[in-house]
Amino acid sequence: MLDAGREFGNDARFTIGVSQSIRVDMPTPNDFLIAPSILSADFARLGDEVNAVLSAGADVVHFDVMDNHYVPNLTIGPLVCDALRKHGVTAPIDVHLMVNPVDRLVGDFAAAGATYISFHPEASEHVHRTISLIRSAGAKPGLVFNPATSLDWLDYCLEEIDLVLIMSVNPGFGGQSFIPSSLAKLRAARQRIEASGRDIRLEIDGGVKIDNIGEIAAAGADMFVAGSAIFGSDDYRTTIAAMREQIAANV
Ligand code: DX5
Ligand code: ZN
Repeated sequence: MLDAGREFGNDARFTIGVSQSIRVDMPTPNDFLIAPSILSADFARLGDEVNAVLSAGADVVHFDVMDNHYVPNLTIGPLVCDALRKHGVTAPIDVHLMVNPVDRLVGDFAAAGATYISFHPEASEHVHRTISLIRSAGAKPGLVFNPATSLDWLDYCLEEIDLVLIMSVNPGFGGQSFIPSSLAKLRAARQRIEASGRDIRLEIDGGVKIDNIGEIAAAGADMFVAGSAIFGSDDYRTTIAAMREQIAANV
């Protein structure tokens, strides 16, 4: 059972026990987290790519799971998550499930070392049950909102989750353009999170670049997925540093 706890703690390190004991580095609560999406990595060298972005200053590994059913693309599953842990990856792994059905995969990803497991409410028959399943499997539950999905889902489950993920593109592919209405949605989600008084991450996913990450941070995001902007750049460290500079200049 994974037991990283809801609070990250100040020494920023936890030992979690999944199938084998894996040491996971957890960020401190108020950090702005950069989460490169490995969808844009070179899959032939995935372990090296993940090590490279983490040593270049990334905080979290964003792991996009697509099933050619909920979204029109097919990517990676729990075996790859497990392989990254066995490769020595200790950073949090942020599993973004774009699959239907959801529940069947939850236990497998938790056992494979997922830190967060988030899903789209439209893809689950019983949203509250799926959230509980993720929690009881030992991972941190997150709910994902497509560009046209209302935040009203949060009315009855914000208390149960650790992550709100706002999609700023339609899910399925890397390299798409940021949808501007996502900024208003981030502000609305930030208000809900503050009103709850709970420690809930607000993540943005899709079209995040150096030149828009500042306004995204100003709208309330504290966790930033970036795929093509990081893996498509010549120097991961320079790109991540430039993103952090833009965040710091705008919050
Ligand atoms: C899209 C995925 C994203 C994607 C982001 O369905 O959820 O994580 O990889 O890629 P970029 O940053 O290139 O838009
Ligand atoms: Zn994603």
